[in-house]
Amino acid sequence: MNAASLFDQAALGNFWFRYLHVLAGITWIGLLYYFNLVQVPGLAAYGDEGKARNITITQIATRALWWFRWAAIATLATGILITGVAPDYMNDFMNHVGDSPSNAKNAGISVGMILGITMAANVWMIIWKNQKVVIANATNVLNGGEANPDAATAGRRAMLASRQNMIFSISMLFYMVGAAHFIENGDLFAATSGEANTFLIISLVICAVLQLNALGKFGGIKAGNKMLVIYETQKNAIITGVVLWAVLFILTVVIMGA
Ligand code: HEM
Repeated sequence: MNAASLFDQAALGNFWFRYLHVLAGITWIGLLYYFNLVQVPGLAAYGDEGKARNITITQIATRALWWFRWAAIATLATGILITGVAPDYMNDFMNHVGDSPSNAKNAGISVGMILGITMAANVWMIIWKNQKVVIANATNVLNGGEANPDAATAGRRAMLASRQNMIFSISMLFYMVGAAHFIENGDLFAATSGEANTFLIISLVICAVLQLNALGKFGGIKAGNKMLVIYETQKNAIITGVVLWAVLFILTVVIMGA
C-alpha cells in the first residue's frame, strides 16, 4: 500500500472528513440532548434558585454553548467537505436515471442534509442569538442590575428552536447513516428520479411546516398556542420526533420501496 494514498483526495473525502464529521456530529447532538434532557429540566426543577446559580450560568452553560455552536459549524463544514472532496460524490449525486437505488439514497441523504443545515441555522440564528440575551440578563441580575424584560421571550424562542432540533435530530441521523448503509441497498429501495423527487418534496414540506411552527409563524410563540403543544415538555418533543421519523420512514418505504 502506498502511504500517500492514505491522505489522497479519495481518503480525505471518503474517510477523514467523514470520520471528523461523525466526531463533530456526536459532540453537537450530544450537547443538544444534554441541554434538552438534562440542563433545562434540571434548572427548572431548581426554580429561581437554579437560575441564580452563578456556577451553572457562567462556568458550565457558556462552555457547553461554546462547544455546541462550534461543533455545529464543524459538522456542517465537514459534511459539505464530504460532498465536495469525495471523488465523484457530486457527479453521482446529480446524475441518476431509471429505477435506481442511488436515486433513493440521494433523496434520503438530501433530507438528512437539509435537516442538518436547518438545525445548524437554528443553533446560530435562533438558539445562540437568544441565549446571549438570557445569559447577559442572568449575569446582570446576579450582579445586582435591572432585569431585562425581553429575556423571558428570548429564552422561549431558544427553547422552541432547541426542541425543534431535538425533534429533527432523530430523522436527520436516520437519513445520515441510513442513506449509504440501508437505503442504498437495492434489495430494499429503488426509485425513479420522479419518485425520489416526490419523496423529497413531501418530506421537506412536512419538515418546513414544523420549522415554521417552531419559529411561531402559526399564532406566535406564547404558551397556550395549541400549535406549540409539541414543544411544551421534553416528552412531547420526543414523541413528536419519533412520530416524524415514523411518517418519513413510511413515506420512504411506500414511495421508494423496491
Ligand atoms: C449540518 C449539516 C450536515 C451535512 C451537510 C451533512 C452531510 C453528510 C454527508 C454528505 C454524509 C455522507 C453520506 C453518504 O455517504 O452519502 C454524511 C454522513 C453522515 N453524517 Fe452528516 N451531515 C450533516 C449533519 C450531521 C449531523 C448533525 C450528524 C450527527 C451525528 C451527522 C452524522 C453523520 C453520520 C453518522 C454519517 C454516516 C457516515 C457513514 O456511515 O459513512 N451528520 N453527512
